[in-house]
Amino acid sequence: MSSITKDIRWVGVNDHDLDLFEGQYIVPEGMAYNSYIILDEKIAVMDSVDRHFGKEWLENLETALEGRKPDYLIVQHMEPDHSANIAAFMDAYPEARVVASAKAFTMMKNFYGSDYADRRITVGEGDSLELGKHVLKFITAPMVHWPEVIMTYDCADKVLFSADAFGKFGALDAEDEEGWACEARRYYFGIVGKYGMQVQAVLKKAAALDIAVICPLHGPVLSEDLGYYLDLYKTWSAYGVESEGVVICYTSVYGNTEKAVKLLEEKLKEKGCPKVAVNDLARCDMPEAVEDAFRYGKLVLATTTYNAEIFPFMKQFIDHLVERGFRGRKIGLIENGSWAPTAAKVMKGMLEGLKEITFAETTVRILSAVSEENQEQIEKLAEEMK
Ligand code: FEO
Repeated sequence: MSSITKDIRWVGVNDHDLDLFEGQYIVPEGMAYNSYIILDEKIAVMDSVDRHFGKEWLENLETALEGRKPDYLIVQHMEPDHSANIAAFMDAYPEARVVASAKAFTMMKNFYGSDYADRRITVGEGDSLELGKHVLKFITAPMVHWPEVIMTYDCADKVLFSADAFGKFGALDAEDEEGWACEARRYYFGIVGKYGMQVQAVLKKAAALDIAVICPLHGPVLSEDLGYYLDLYKTWSAYGVESEGVVICYTSVYGNTEKAVKLLEEKLKEKGCPKVAVNDLARCDMPEAVEDAFRYGKLVLATTTYNAEIFPFMKQFIDHLVERGFRGRKIGLIENGSWAPTAAKVMKGMLEGLKEITFAETTVRILSAVSEENQEQIEKLAEEMK
C-alpha cells in the first residue's frame, strides 16, 4: 500500500505467478492489478483485482480503511482482471454501493450473476460523484479497452484514473530496466492497438483536464513529465512513426531466407539506416514483433511459400497487423519458393486493403538458396528501404 496523494492510496496487488496475461501475452516481470482508495467524508474504491488476489486485496483495503467502511466501489472496467472481486467486496461491505456504466452492469450480471439492482449507481459521460472535498467526474472511454469502460477524474487532486490506458506489463515490485515505453508499447499494440480512433477521442477529452497524476489499472502511477506519456499515446493511437528505421520480420525453414535477411540487415546498416530491428517470427515473442512493426516507419517481410500459401508464423503475424489496422508504412517483400513461389503475392494480397501502404518496387524472389541475382535484388531493396 502506498500513498499517491494525501487522500489517495494504492491498494492493488502484484502477480508473479501468471503465465499468460489475457491468455496470450507473456509477462516475464509479472503483472500489477491496480486498485485505489480515495479517503474523504465518503470513501470510494477504484476497481477490484484479479480473482487469485481477492484475499490480499481485501486485506489491503482493511489496512487503508483504518476501521472505516467504504461507501462506493467504482467499476471502470469489467474485464475479469479488475472485476473478479466485486462480489467479495459487496459481501464484505453490505452498505456499499457499486458505481459503473449501464453496459458494465449488463456485463456484471452476465459474468457474476448479479447487477446489484438495489445497490447500484449508473453513471455516464459528465456525471459526477461527491465524496466531500473530492468530486469525481466520469468520462466514457468506449473500446479503451472494452465498450463499458469509464475513466474517472478527481477534480481535487487532479488525478485521472485511466482504466487500462497508460498501463504496461510488469509487476510494480519488479525491475524495470528498459523503461516504461518498452512494455507499455507491447501492451498498447497488443491490447488496444485496433482502437486508435477511440483512444484519440479519449485523449481529446483528457486534453481539457488539468492532470497532475495518471493512475492506470496496470503499471506504475505516472506523476512526472506527463507530456512524454501523452505524446507517445498520441503517436501510437494515430498509427504514427515513433522511431525512424526498418523492422525485418521473417521465417526461415533451412536458413536460406534467413541468409537473405542477414544480408539485407548488413546492407541497410552500411547505407546508414538509423535502426534495423530483426525478428524471427518462429522464435521471438510475436507481440514484440507486432509492436516493432507499429514503432518503425518501414517493414520488410520475408518468408517461404508453404502449402501454396505462406509459412504459418508469417500468416499469423500479418493477421495481427491487419486486425490492428496497420497503416501508413512502406513495406518490402522477400519470398522464397523451391518450385512455385507465391509468398510475395499472398503477403501483398493480405496487406493490400490497409490504408496508406506503399510497397517497395523491388521484390526479392529466392528460388531455394540466395543467388547472385538475389544479392543484387537485396542491394536494391536496401537502397529503397534505408
Ligand atoms: Fe486490464 Fe482490459 O483489462
